[in-house]
Amino acid sequence: MKLWGGRFTKPTNELVDAYTASIHFDKRLAKYDIQGSLAHVEMLKVCGILPASDTEEISKGLKAVAAKIETGEAELSEQHEDIHMNIEKLLIDEVGPVGGKLHTGRSRNDQVALDMRLYLREALLEITQLLVHLQEALHQQAKANLDTVLPGYTHLQRAQPVLFAHHMMAYVFMFQRDVERLTDSWKRVNKSPLGAGALAGTTFPIDRELVAEQLQFDGICENSLDAVSDRDFVVEFLADSALIAAHLSRLCEELVQWSSAEFNFIELDDAFSTGSSMMPQKKNPDVAELVRGKTGRVYGHLIGMLTTLKGLPLAYNKDMQEDKEGMFDTVETLRGALALFAPMVETMDVKKENMYEAVSNDFSNATDLADYLVGKGMAFRESHAVVGQVVLHCINENKYLLDLTLEEFQDFSALIEEDIFTLLRPEAVVNARDVAGGTAKNRVEDQITLANKLFEASKVWILEHEEAIVLKNN
Ligand code: ARG
Repeated sequence: MKLWGGRFTKPTNELVDAYTASIHFDKRLAKYDIQGSLAHVEMLKVCGILPASDTEEISKGLKAVAAKIETGEAELSEQHEDIHMNIEKLLIDEVGPVGGKLHTGRSRNDQVALDMRLYLREALLEITQLLVHLQEALHQQAKANLDTVLPGYTHLQRAQPVLFAHHMMAYVFMFQRDVERLTDSWKRVNKSPLGAGALAGTTFPIDRELVAEQLQFDGICENSLDAVSDRDFVVEFLADSALIAAHLSRLCEELVQWSSAEFNFIELDDAFSTGSSMMPQKKNPDVAELVRGKTGRVYGHLIGMLTTLKGLPLAYNKDMQEDKEGMFDTVETLRGALALFAPMVETMDVKKENMYEAVSNDFSNATDLADYLVGKGMAFRESHAVVGQVVLHCINENKYLLDLTLEEFQDFSALIEEDIFTLLRPEAVVNARDVAGGTAKNRVEDQITLANKLFEASKVWILEHEEAIVLKNN
């Protein structure tokens, strides 16, 4: 008989059981479900709703169930639909009818919302931590490449030289915003829905704040209907994750390009590359490709969740059971990608000479020649046209700017003097961009220093919030 079977005259069709069950995925919530129940039952005691003798038995039973689930000894069955009812059933098996008192003043609707929030809190911490590790790997490469110049691109056409350190730091700041989005979302995740009941609250004199405090929440969801019916915190997490995936995917694309023979700017470590079943010479950047590929599922989960929520009347609807798989899969996808990415970036070989060679054999110093003429009083629009002519001449002659003689330069403008030959060198071109946030070495060093402080702040945040979770687990 189902825990809710009282008003039914026959068993549910097997197909219905199978179709409506969520146990095969929400079993991941077991630990949080029991944490929540322990806090709930403690509150029932403090508020005098259940006698201490009952709550002690229930608590003991819940801990025994937790242990049995962890060892795999407990059987979780589709027959009991979801993790909440499976645990309640296991509890009753463990301690007898008193276990049936656990659900006093509570519904699966507030219970599942609670479990999702508890799960997500830990996921936020873990992903933030993994992001910081990746930032540190990028930061490490930046520090090691403060003198490495490569072409910077727009439209994937060589544009202006930049430091490889600058390029790495661009990703550090992207992931910094990802960290900030996650840590900011914590305050919206970290509210307790428990006590909202099925939708309207409960007739028992419960203490919602007490439960919230025990579970280290920063407060309670203010409206019971809202508490059980919104999953905006899941959407927000999925949106933050979609951006993380987007940032990762762009980096993946660059790693794939850079490790091709056409670019030959980096070589990924053997430990982070794979071979071909047929072509013996191949070394493929599979990890980067797969992370790029998995961006699709992360985006998909975001759209899926938004669509599931759209048009749902208040309050809980079974549609909302669809909130879980996308969230779990997103956490698992990001966990896998980020864990691999940090060591892959850390161990990649940066081919400085090839980058320098590339930047020496292009026109990425053309803007500097135009700026030089502006410095001598020419209007930028005019200098742009003059340098365009110089470049055209070079293309026809199969030369680059630094291959020209002073006389050739002066055919285009008498303003050009000998100093142009030092000013157009890649290092000089890079260091000329001495503005805040620019690619000049000292400006990139500033970014590197700033990043150290940002990492420190993230680590403090992680530590403080981790403590909260550890406290609660005991
Ligand atoms: N398994 C359900 C879910 O994930 C739990 C809540 C069920 N509530 C209900 N009224 N059927 O959404």
